[in-house]
Amino acid sequence: MDFKNNIRVIPDFPQAGISFKDITTLLKDGAAYRAAIDELKALVAHLEIDVIAGPEARGFVVGAPLAYALGVGFVPIRKSGKLPYETIEVGYDLEYGKDTLAMHTDAIKPGQKVLIADDLLATGGTIATSVNLVEQLGGQVVGAAFLIELTALAGRDKLSNVEVMTLLTYE
Ligand code: PRP
Repeated sequence: MDFKNNIRVIPDFPQAGISFKDITTLLKDGAAYRAAIDELKALVAHLEIDVIAGPEARGFVVGAPLAYALGVGFVPIRKSGKLPYETIEVGYDLEYGKDTLAMHTDAIKPGQKVLIADDLLATGGTIATSVNLVEQLGGQVVGAAFLIELTALAGRDKLSNVEVMTLLTYE
């Protein structure tokens, strides 16, 4: 299915020069949302996955339904200060700005095979940080799955040892 018709592109948001890919128009269409998750499920079907990790906030709306569809668990990767238990944290640069991501220290069991899921691969900073966190916890990252990849930002290059799967690409 060509999901581009379901993505709304907003020029100059959240700042000049950024062409924002708004997935809310996909998410509110039940048939399109389900089809997108089903297609992601097919894209990762060759992988052995124990658990999915998704970064806040839009990684939740991709990762959690994919975990449900695969019958595996979901663990959140959150911005600093949100998780209640003991955490590890890693700072990173965003396409616009800086942030810190955190995971619970018991989110992943050593040796677990982890798929990371998010809505969008831009510079790759978020996902590279997510990989770092999962690996610090002893997890094995078996892949990273996205609805959208912005190819011009070459985020894939930050993930040289991780299989990257995406439904849609934009220049
Ligand atoms: C966006 C998007 C990805 C990330 C991609 O999240 O949902 O997680 O940026 O950019 P990158 O590849 O350059 O790291 P954001 O940090 O804006 O958080 P949000 O989902 O909570 O809005």
